[in-house]
Amino acid sequence: MTLKFVVMSDLHVMPEGELSMTLDTGDRLEQAVDAVIARYHEADFCVLAGDLTDLGQPAAYEHLKTIIDRIPIPVHITLGNHDDRPTFLSVFGEDFLAETGKVDKVIDAKGYRIILLDSSEPGRVDGVLDSGQINWLQARLAEAMDRPVIVILHHNANALHIEADNIRMLEPDAFIDALKTHPDIRQVIAGHVHLTSTATWRGLPFTTLAGGHYSVSVDQPHIPMRRLTGPGQMAFVIGTPDSTTVLFDDFIDGNEEIFLAVD
Ligand SMILES: [Fe+2]
Repeated sequence: MTLKFVVMSDLHVMPEGELSMTLDTGDRLEQAVDAVIARYHEADFCVLAGDLTDLGQPAAYEHLKTIIDRIPIPVHITLGNHDDRPTFLSVFGEDFLAETGKVDKVIDAKGYRIILLDSSEPGRVDGVLDSGQINWLQARLAEAMDRPVIVILHHNANALHIEADNIRMLEPDAFIDALKTHPDIRQVIAGHVHLTSTATWRGLPFTTLAGGHYSVSVDQPHIPMRRLTGPGQMAFVIGTPDSTTVLFDDFIDGNEEIFLAVD
């Protein structure tokens, strides 16, 4: 019984025919969906971890809906800072709203509990989990003390020691304290920074995936950050009872395949 699921983030879809940061994000998402169909059609589900659209217009959510309709496995969704919650709900339906008033969700599959948290806050680029969400998270964790848990949200809670740390989750201590009430948090997976990273912080494992939009180079005080067109990245998570693995699939990597001559 192995859990397998795909995480996509930072899709930044625009209304059909419009570009974002010079990129055709709709076409990039089509390529991501093609990769799911080709490689992950037997996975348990797919999670979209926010920044579904770039500017949150109804036409962008309609465009997103048309594209993800082709995903052949169940799709679970939460939001990011580029999303507009009322517009998302008007296109996708109020059923996406949890009792927290946010687009939070619990998924129980293959002996795991997966918790999606909506860290978006209108008018803010950084992320927020309100006290109602923290209480809800703690209650959902308390129900699952016998199972491993994976948490997925848009904003990274941990610092990556880059300039974008100023837009990470605001005041993450309550979130971390809630996670610490559970004995087996396997991963906390986020997008937002458009950069691949893994970390441990306060004894918990954190991962970010670069996502579907532009990616960024690692910035340092003497090396300014550059925006790059690639790679277009999703994560593929594999969970067994005693291991949780995150693989990164660069679905627009632009690299040439190496073929070796066979005698
Ligand atoms: Fe983003």
